Amino acid sequence: MTRGRFIALEGGEGVGKSTQLRLLSDALRARGHGVVTTREPGGTAGAEAIRAMLLDTTGEGWGPRAEALLFAAARADHVARLIRPALDRGDWVLTDRYIDSTRAYQGGGSGLDDADLMTLHRIGSQGLLPDRTVVLQLDPALVTQRLAARDRGHSDRIGGRDAAYHARVAAAFRGYADAEPDRFALVDAAGTPERVHARVIAAIDAC
Ligand code: TYD
Repeated sequence: MTRGRFIALEGGEGVGKSTQLRLLSDALRARGHGVVTTREPGGTAGAEAIRAMLLDTTGEGWGPRAEALLFAAARADHVARLIRPALDRGDWVLTDRYIDSTRAYQGGGSGLDDADLMTLHRIGSQGLLPDRTVVLQLDPALVTQRLAARDRGHSDRIGGRDAAYHARVAAAFRGYADAEPDRFALVDAAGTPERVHARVIAAIDAC
């Protein structure tokens, strides 16, 4: 059986990843593909339990190293129990965030070494990478507007970090995309969901 394709949607908070994931899965199903949609941190019972520990805003939270290990552990369960089996069946897998979020947040945002994060990924998930990583990019002023409407002041532990942190995250995503143009596509997330969807489809069809 042909292996399904593995697509990750990435980007900072409030860029519209979940809407685009839904539109993309509808479009691929209409083309007759089996499609599994999922998210990180999460996607399996074990990984969702780790998600709750990571994003909870009560208690003192985690240091960057513990946080990176927890993301890697959640991803290991997600890859072994959901992503690989789906790809092996020939399905497409669309995930809202994956390893490049760890690189951008725990690496670019929190300062951990990129090679170390990739080593954790090799240990946890045998280094599985998406066939295509779509990074949605949006002007920070528009992000602020969208988040104000979405979260109404209740962001999670990581989403609530300061603007400088999120600027480092955005710069890190751009840097990874520039370094690996065959895997990444940078997509402008401004405009209606339908216009952004057309750009996402073009990025997928090119892979
Ligand atoms: P989520 O509610 O899914 O955020 P969003 O709607 O913005 O995608 O929460 C996930 C948060 O976890 C988000 O702030 C990004 C962060 N994160 C990391 O820091 N590292 C990671 O590896 C992943 C997958 C997410």
